[in-house]
Amino acid sequence: MQTVRDLESLREAVAAWRTEGARVAFVPTMGALHAGHIALVEAAKGPGVKVVASIFVNPKQFGPNEDLSRYPRKEKADLTMLEEAGCDLVWLPPVEAMYPAGFATNISVAGVSEGLDGAARPGHFDGVATVVTKLFNQVRPDAAYFGEKDYQQLAVIRRMVSDLDMGIDIVGVPTQRDDDGLALSSRNIYLDDEQRAKAVALPRALGVAAQGLARGDDAENVLAQAHAALGAAGFEVDYVSLVDAETLALAPAADRPRRLLAAAKMGHTRLIDNIAIE
Ligand code: PAF
Repeated sequence: MQTVRDLESLREAVAAWRTEGARVAFVPTMGALHAGHIALVEAAKGPGVKVVASIFVNPKQFGPNEDLSRYPRKEKADLTMLEEAGCDLVWLPPVEAMYPAGFATNISVAGVSEGLDGAARPGHFDGVATVVTKLFNQVRPDAAYFGEKDYQQLAVIRRMVSDLDMGIDIVGVPTQRDDDGLALSSRNIYLDDEQRAKAVALPRALGVAAQGLARGDDAENVLAQAHAALGAAGFEVDYVSLVDAETLALAPAADRPRRLLAAAKMGHTRLIDNIAIE
Protein backbone atom coordinates (compact mmCIF):
# COMPACT_ATOMS: atom_id res chain seq x y z
CA MET A 1 0.00 0.00 0.00
CA GLN A 2 1.38 3.40 -0.97
CA THR A 3 1.06 6.37 1.37
CA VAL A 4 1.17 9.68 -0.45
CA ARG A 5 1.35 13.20 0.97
CA ASP A 6 1.84 15.34 -2.15
CA LEU A 7 -0.53 15.86 -5.04
CA GLU A 8 2.03 15.18 -7.76
CA SER A 9 2.74 11.68 -6.42
CA LEU A 10 -0.98 11.00 -6.11
CA ARG A 11 -1.57 12.05 -9.72
CA GLU A 12 1.37 9.93 -10.95
CA ALA A 13 0.11 6.81 -9.14
CA VAL A 14 -3.44 7.23 -10.43
CA ALA A 15 -2.23 7.98 -13.98
CA ALA A 16 -0.11 4.79 -13.98
CA TRP A 17 -3.16 2.71 -12.98
CA ARG A 18 -5.24 4.38 -15.66
CA THR A 19 -2.73 3.40 -18.36
CA GLU A 20 -3.11 -0.21 -17.13
CA GLY A 21 -6.88 0.14 -17.60
CA ALA A 22 -7.75 0.04 -13.88
CA ARG A 23 -10.85 1.68 -12.40
CA VAL A 24 -10.29 3.90 -9.39
CA ALA A 25 -12.56 3.63 -6.34
CA PHE A 26 -12.31 6.23 -3.61
CA VAL A 27 -13.09 6.11 0.12
CA PRO A 28 -12.77 9.56 1.71
CA THR A 29 -12.38 9.53 5.52
CA MET A 30 -11.33 11.71 8.42
CA GLY A 31 -9.39 8.83 9.99
CA ALA A 32 -10.03 7.27 13.44
CA LEU A 33 -11.13 4.31 11.38
CA HIS A 34 -13.47 1.56 12.52
CA ALA A 35 -15.25 -1.38 10.91
CA GLY A 36 -17.67 1.02 9.19
CA HIS A 37 -14.81 2.51 7.16
CA ILE A 38 -13.39 -0.92 6.41
CA ALA A 39 -16.80 -1.94 5.04
CA LEU A 40 -16.44 0.96 2.57
CA VAL A 41 -13.03 -0.35 1.44
CA GLU A 42 -14.45 -3.88 1.14
CA ALA A 43 -17.35 -2.58 -0.97
CA ALA A 44 -14.93 -0.60 -3.17
CA LYS A 45 -12.63 -3.55 -3.95
CA GLY A 46 -13.10 -5.61 -7.08
CA PRO A 47 -11.33 -7.05 -10.11
CA GLY A 48 -9.46 -4.37 -12.03
CA VAL A 49 -10.19 -1.79 -9.29
CA LYS A 50 -7.59 0.22 -7.38
CA VAL A 51 -8.81 1.56 -4.05
CA VAL A 52 -7.69 4.97 -2.80
CA ALA A 53 -8.61 6.08 0.73
CA SER A 54 -7.98 9.57 2.04
CA ILE A 55 -7.45 10.66 5.62
CA PHE A 56 -8.01 14.36 6.21
CA VAL A 57 -9.64 15.96 9.25
CA ASN A 58 -11.40 18.77 7.43
CA PRO A 59 -11.49 21.97 9.50
CA LYS A 60 -14.16 23.52 7.26
CA GLN A 61 -16.84 21.06 8.37
CA PHE A 62 -16.46 21.75 12.11
CA GLY A 63 -18.34 24.60 13.75
CA PRO A 64 -16.55 26.97 16.17
CA ASN A 65 -17.85 25.03 19.22
CA GLU A 66 -17.33 21.56 17.76
CA ASP A 67 -14.63 18.96 18.40
CA LEU A 68 -11.99 19.76 15.72
CA SER A 69 -9.08 20.03 18.17
CA ARG A 70 -9.98 16.86 20.05
CA TYR A 71 -11.21 14.86 17.04
CA PRO A 72 -9.40 11.50 17.34
CA ARG A 73 -6.24 11.22 15.22
CA LYS A 74 -4.78 7.71 14.88
CA GLU A 75 -2.76 7.71 11.69
CA LYS A 76 -0.56 4.68 12.45
CA ALA A 77 -3.48 2.43 13.43
CA ASP A 78 -5.52 3.75 10.48
CA LEU A 79 -2.77 2.87 8.00
CA THR A 80 -2.47 -0.65 9.43
CA MET A 81 -6.22 -1.17 9.11
CA LEU A 82 -6.28 0.11 5.54
CA GLU A 83 -3.34 -2.06 4.52
CA GLU A 84 -4.96 -5.15 6.05
CA ALA A 85 -8.22 -4.31 4.27
CA GLY A 86 -6.43 -4.32 0.89
CA CYS A 87 -6.43 -0.59 0.16
CA ASP A 88 -3.95 0.29 -2.61
CA LEU A 89 -3.10 3.90 -1.76
CA VAL A 90 -3.75 6.31 1.10
CA TRP A 91 -3.86 10.03 0.33
CA LEU A 92 -2.83 12.10 3.36
CA PRO A 93 -2.92 15.72 2.24
CA PRO A 94 -1.44 18.33 4.54
CA VAL A 95 -3.88 21.08 5.54
CA GLU A 96 -1.80 23.72 3.65
CA ALA A 97 -2.25 21.71 0.44
CA MET A 98 -6.02 21.54 0.94
CA TYR A 99 -6.52 25.13 2.02
CA PRO A 100 -3.55 27.24 0.89
CA ALA A 101 -3.48 30.94 1.78
CA GLY A 102 -6.07 32.73 -0.31
CA PHE A 103 -8.38 29.73 -0.68
CA ALA A 104 -11.76 31.33 -1.40
CA THR A 105 -14.10 28.73 -2.88
CA ASN A 106 -17.19 27.38 -1.20
CA ILE A 107 -19.52 24.68 -2.57
CA SER A 108 -23.03 24.97 -1.22
CA VAL A 109 -25.82 22.54 -2.07
CA ALA A 110 -29.21 24.15 -1.41
CA GLY A 111 -32.30 22.29 -0.22
CA VAL A 112 -30.99 18.91 0.84
CA SER A 113 -28.27 20.58 3.00
CA GLU A 114 -30.59 22.91 4.83
CA GLY A 115 -32.68 21.01 7.41
CA LEU A 116 -31.75 18.39 10.01
CA ASP A 117 -27.98 18.48 10.63
CA GLY A 118 -27.68 21.43 8.24
CA ALA A 119 -29.88 23.47 10.57
CA ALA A 120 -28.12 22.24 13.72
CA ARG A 121 -24.59 22.66 12.30
CA PRO A 122 -24.54 25.80 10.09
CA GLY A 123 -21.87 25.58 7.40
CA HIS A 124 -21.19 21.90 8.03
CA PHE A 125 -22.41 20.63 4.65
CA ASP A 126 -20.71 23.47 2.77
CA GLY A 127 -17.49 22.27 4.41
CA VAL A 128 -18.22 18.67 3.41
CA ALA A 129 -19.22 19.54 -0.17
CA THR A 130 -16.16 21.77 -0.61
CA VAL A 131 -13.64 19.23 0.67
CA VAL A 132 -15.26 16.31 -1.17
CA THR A 133 -15.18 18.30 -4.44
CA LYS A 134 -11.52 19.06 -3.89
CA LEU A 135 -10.72 15.44 -3.02
CA PHE A 136 -12.63 14.26 -6.10
CA ASN A 137 -10.62 16.66 -8.28
CA GLN A 138 -7.38 15.38 -6.77
CA VAL A 139 -8.13 11.65 -6.99
CA ARG A 140 -10.46 11.74 -10.05
CA PRO A 141 -12.16 8.46 -9.13
CA ASP A 142 -14.71 6.47 -11.12
CA ALA A 143 -16.68 5.69 -7.98
CA ALA A 144 -16.75 6.91 -4.37
CA TYR A 145 -18.08 5.11 -1.29
CA PHE A 146 -19.89 6.73 1.64
CA GLY A 147 -21.61 5.23 4.70
CA GLU A 148 -25.38 5.46 5.01
CA LYS A 149 -24.89 6.37 8.66
CA ASP A 150 -24.22 9.94 7.51
CA TYR A 151 -27.38 9.81 5.44
CA GLN A 152 -27.77 13.55 4.87
CA GLN A 153 -24.11 13.80 3.81
CA LEU A 154 -24.72 11.02 1.28
CA ALA A 155 -27.81 12.83 -0.07
CA VAL A 156 -25.88 16.12 -0.34
CA ILE A 157 -23.03 14.45 -2.24
CA ARG A 158 -25.41 12.64 -4.60
CA ARG A 159 -27.17 15.94 -5.38
CA MET A 160 -23.87 17.77 -5.92
CA VAL A 161 -22.37 15.07 -8.17
CA SER A 162 -25.55 15.00 -10.25
CA ASP A 163 -25.92 18.80 -10.45
CA LEU A 164 -22.29 19.34 -11.43
CA ASP A 165 -22.02 16.38 -13.85
CA MET A 166 -19.06 15.06 -11.93
CA GLY A 167 -19.43 11.63 -13.54
CA ILE A 168 -18.59 9.70 -10.37
CA ASP A 169 -20.72 6.75 -9.17
CA ILE A 170 -21.72 7.46 -5.59
CA VAL A 171 -22.24 4.24 -3.65
CA GLY A 172 -23.98 4.22 -0.26
CA VAL A 173 -22.89 1.42 2.06
CA PRO A 174 -25.19 0.19 4.87
CA THR A 175 -24.39 1.33 8.40
CA GLN A 176 -22.17 -1.00 10.41
CA ARG A 177 -23.34 -1.59 13.98
CA ASP A 178 -22.07 -2.95 17.27
CA ASP A 179 -23.72 -6.16 18.49
CA ASP A 180 -26.36 -4.19 20.43
CA GLY A 181 -27.26 -2.10 17.36
CA LEU A 182 -25.41 1.19 18.03
CA ALA A 183 -24.10 2.59 14.75
CA LEU A 184 -20.29 2.61 14.58
CA SER A 185 -18.89 6.14 14.73
CA SER A 186 -15.48 7.65 15.40
CA ARG A 187 -17.22 9.73 18.07
CA ASN A 188 -18.45 6.71 20.09
CA ILE A 189 -15.11 6.74 21.93
CA TYR A 190 -16.23 9.93 23.70
CA LEU A 191 -18.99 7.96 25.51
CA ASP A 192 -18.21 6.64 29.01
CA ASP A 193 -19.47 3.15 29.93
CA GLU A 194 -22.76 4.39 31.34
CA GLN A 195 -23.45 6.64 28.34
CA ARG A 196 -22.49 3.85 25.94
CA ALA A 197 -24.99 1.51 27.60
CA LYS A 198 -27.75 4.13 27.35
CA ALA A 199 -26.91 5.04 23.74
CA VAL A 200 -28.46 1.83 22.43
CA ALA A 201 -31.81 3.58 22.95
CA LEU A 202 -31.14 5.48 19.70
CA PRO A 203 -31.22 2.54 17.24
CA ARG A 204 -33.96 0.91 19.34
CA ALA A 205 -36.22 3.96 19.20
CA LEU A 206 -35.68 4.23 15.44
CA GLY A 207 -36.40 0.52 14.97
CA VAL A 208 -39.67 0.72 16.93
CA ALA A 209 -40.71 3.87 15.07
CA ALA A 210 -39.86 2.35 11.68
CA GLN A 211 -42.09 -0.64 12.45
CA GLY A 212 -44.95 1.66 13.42
CA LEU A 213 -44.57 3.76 10.27
CA ALA A 214 -44.37 0.67 8.07
CA ARG A 215 -47.65 -0.52 9.67
CA GLY A 216 -49.22 2.81 8.78
CA ASP A 217 -49.43 4.23 12.32
CA ASP A 218 -49.93 7.98 12.61
CA ALA A 219 -46.52 9.56 11.86
CA GLU A 220 -46.87 12.40 14.35
CA ASN A 221 -47.57 9.97 17.22
CA VAL A 222 -44.79 7.63 16.19
CA LEU A 223 -42.25 10.48 16.08
CA ALA A 224 -43.45 11.82 19.45
CA GLN A 225 -43.04 8.37 21.01
CA ALA A 226 -39.51 8.01 19.61
CA HIS A 227 -38.67 11.46 20.95
CA ALA A 228 -40.03 10.52 24.39
CA ALA A 229 -38.16 7.19 24.43
CA LEU A 230 -34.88 8.97 23.69
CA GLY A 231 -35.52 11.58 26.37
CA ALA A 232 -36.33 8.84 28.89
CA ALA A 233 -33.03 7.12 28.07
CA GLY A 234 -31.07 10.28 28.88
CA PHE A 235 -30.68 11.79 25.41
CA GLU A 236 -31.15 15.47 24.69
CA VAL A 237 -32.98 15.17 21.38
CA ASP A 238 -32.12 17.44 18.48
CA TYR A 239 -34.55 15.95 15.94
CA VAL A 240 -36.42 12.81 15.01
CA SER A 241 -37.65 13.44 11.46
CA LEU A 242 -39.39 11.47 8.77
CA VAL A 243 -38.19 12.64 5.35
CA ASP A 244 -38.24 11.82 1.66
CA ALA A 245 -35.30 9.46 1.16
CA GLU A 246 -33.93 11.45 -1.80
CA THR A 247 -34.75 15.12 -1.23
CA LEU A 248 -34.91 14.92 2.59
CA ALA A 249 -38.09 17.05 2.45
CA LEU A 250 -40.28 16.73 5.55
CA ALA A 251 -43.73 15.12 5.47
CA PRO A 252 -42.97 12.80 2.54
CA ALA A 253 -45.68 11.06 0.57
CA ALA A 254 -46.19 7.48 1.78
CA ASP A 255 -45.74 6.13 -1.77
CA ARG A 256 -42.20 7.61 -1.97
CA PRO A 257 -39.13 6.00 -0.39
CA ARG A 258 -38.90 7.43 3.13
CA ARG A 259 -36.20 7.60 5.75
CA LEU A 260 -36.34 8.26 9.47
CA LEU A 261 -33.40 10.31 10.77
CA ALA A 262 -32.47 11.27 14.33
CA ALA A 263 -29.79 13.27 16.10
CA ALA A 264 -29.46 13.40 19.87
CA LYS A 265 -26.83 14.24 22.45
CA MET A 266 -25.69 11.81 25.11
CA GLY A 267 -23.74 14.03 27.48
CA HIS A 268 -21.53 16.13 25.20
CA THR A 269 -21.54 13.57 22.40
CA ARG A 270 -23.89 14.14 19.50
CA LEU A 271 -24.97 10.88 17.84
CA ILE A 272 -26.89 10.44 14.59
CA ASP A 273 -28.63 7.45 13.11
CA ASN A 274 -31.26 6.67 10.48
CA ILE A 275 -33.36 3.85 9.13
CA ALA A 276 -35.24 3.14 5.90
CA ILE A 277 -39.03 2.90 6.12
CA GLU A 278 -39.98 -0.23 4.21
O1 PAF B 1 -17.73 11.29 6.42
C1 PAF B 1 -16.60 11.79 6.62
O2 PAF B 1 -15.71 11.19 7.23
C2 PAF B 1 -16.33 13.20 6.12
O3 PAF B 1 -17.45 14.01 6.23
C3 PAF B 1 -15.76 13.22 4.69
C4 PAF B 1 -16.76 12.68 3.68
C5 PAF B 1 -14.48 12.41 4.63
C6 PAF B 1 -15.43 14.67 4.29
O4 PAF B 1 -14.50 15.23 5.16
